[in-house]
Amino acid sequence: MCQITEKDTKKKVLSCIQPSGMLTLGNYLGALKNWVSMQEEFDCTYAVADLHAITVRQEPAKLRSQIYSTFAIMLALGLDPEKNTMFIQSHVPEHAQLAWLLSCYTQFGEMSRMTQFKDKSAKHADNINVGLFAYPALMAADILLYKPDFVPVGADQKQHLEIARDIAVRFNNIYGDVFTVPEPYIPKTGARVMSLQDPSKKMSKSDENVNSWVAILDSKDDIIRKFKRAVTDSETVVRYSQDKPGISNLLGIYSAVTGKSNEQIEREFEGKGYGDFKLAVGEAVADELAPIKAAYDKIISDKGELERLYRLGADKAERVARKTYFKAMKKVGFVL
Ligand code: TRP
Repeated sequence: MCQITEKDTKKKVLSCIQPSGMLTLGNYLGALKNWVSMQEEFDCTYAVADLHAITVRQEPAKLRSQIYSTFAIMLALGLDPEKNTMFIQSHVPEHAQLAWLLSCYTQFGEMSRMTQFKDKSAKHADNINVGLFAYPALMAADILLYKPDFVPVGADQKQHLEIARDIAVRFNNIYGDVFTVPEPYIPKTGARVMSLQDPSKKMSKSDENVNSWVAILDSKDDIIRKFKRAVTDSETVVRYSQDKPGISNLLGIYSAVTGKSNEQIEREFEGKGYGDFKLAVGEAVADELAPIKAAYDKIISDKGELERLYRLGADKAERVARKTYFKAMKKVGFVL
């Protein structure tokens, strides 16, 4: 009883992550770490956005293993599958179904303004498919099905959240109160993690230089080696400054992991060189990620339990999704 009332009064949060390759320290500090802290305060729905992944060509066996591994990482982080709703997007067919509906309430012109579509179609000029274009309608469906109050998104997804809000408002204006219009959630802490080799670029798993990014599942040795090689500048002072993007990136990472402020960190490394600082950052990151990797190794080796948990999540999710979907269908005039 008590739990039900608590759940009813908690604000709702929804977020999804694509299973595209190795998740990085950037995904962790920019998004996933916050997912963990939000699970106490909010009623959270978290999904692996596998349908989104095929807007670029995927190798079947690799996609499958990435879907498993992304779900396993969510569990390994300490996200509680009982408390939260955690599932794989394609297991809840209402996502694709509502996306179709919403795409008919989305204008070609407004979709054409999406900067990610422009970037991705430049990058994959041989495969500018309709799914890549319509992707924000699917993302809008992911969101609107669960009526979240907040959607935590990074800067690159803000435009997609805005179009989801526009679609919701437009639909509600025609049919009445069907969707909740969600607010973006800007986490209190969190870092925008840049490449360790070129701190003017975001850390990305698609970067050919493997030393530029750290995977959540990297070994301690690899992590420390990558931080030792991180590009800095010719000064020797550990100090936050726009003119020192390499050191500032490391400061941001160290701060996000340890919870220390920039001033505290600057004091801690006063009189010490970059070598000491890079080692300290590498060790702090490795220590933070080690238990996640250990938990992951256990979880991924028990496929039966993994399956039980993603089925449980899909069941919980679908119960909510179905209600919203049918309400929208009914309003539009379909025979149910
Ligand atoms: N498009 C997001 C990304 O690439 C992932 C995503 C899919 C998402 N559906 C979502 C994020 C719904 C937030 C809410 O990062």
